[in-house]
Amino acid sequence: MQIVSTLSDLRTARLSLDGTVALVPTMGYLHEGHLSLIRKAKQECRNVVLSIFVNPAQFGANEDLSKYPRDLERDLALVSPLGVDLVWTPTPEIMYPNGYQTWVEVEAMTRPLEGAMRPTHFKGVTTVVAKLFNATQPDKAYFGQKDAQQAAVIRQMVRDLNFPIEIIVCPTMREADGLAMSSRNKYLEGDDRKAATILFRALTAARSAYEGGERNAEVLRRKMREVLGNEPRAQVQYVSCADYDTLEELETINGKTLLSMAVLLGKTRLIDNFVLE
Ligand code: PAF
Repeated sequence: MQIVSTLSDLRTARLSLDGTVALVPTMGYLHEGHLSLIRKAKQECRNVVLSIFVNPAQFGANEDLSKYPRDLERDLALVSPLGVDLVWTPTPEIMYPNGYQTWVEVEAMTRPLEGAMRPTHFKGVTTVVAKLFNATQPDKAYFGQKDAQQAAVIRQMVRDLNFPIEIIVCPTMREADGLAMSSRNKYLEGDDRKAATILFRALTAARSAYEGGERNAEVLRRKMREVLGNEPRAQVQYVSCADYDTLEELETINGKTLLSMAVLLGKTRLIDNFVLE
């Protein structure tokens, strides 16, 4: 496993990779969700490139970038048995040198849901992902379904900018009680950790209604709000039942659909979603 930081080392290492290349972009502090992306990437491609970069551009002014968890040594120990070929750990100065002024922005579909809560977030995500794609030139790139809007926005960017890259979206990994794995779960303690299962329970209730034949999207949104309302610690930011690709809110479900939500538990913001096929 080669570990590089500078762009020129990355380019040299990339040139030495023979055969198909998978990129797994991450911000580090890896958990089982990331490892499942790496395993899938290794099954499907000859080489796996892992990027670890806490991207300042996707943090809002009120979000504490300096507190984002980091542990490179632990990350490297976790991925070295998985057959990762190349790890790229650029610095903010490499990605955004002095005078940096070029941004990639997807429009309408970045405005609702996460975009409404975090207005500059997706501009930072699409810009860094485009830069990661340009630098590593992968055949396929792997993202988690957990960040459903991010995955949809990246698919749109790849279509719009003609990146010759296949986007693979892998299922959300969950703890035994249903909580979706996330680097942010480390901030959940005691009663907040117990209360955090409310997202899974609300999504499950809406999915059961759907499986029972309910196709009215507002009924499913109401069902999710109702379950979330049973948890006094949960502060609901949004609940959505939207088209899977466009993220437009639905009246009636008649195709692939995304149920999603964002909830604050204390100071920790949690998101989760289910896809209705
Ligand atoms: O999902 C993440 O960890 C980040 O948003 C990504 C895709 C690595 C871009 O910084």
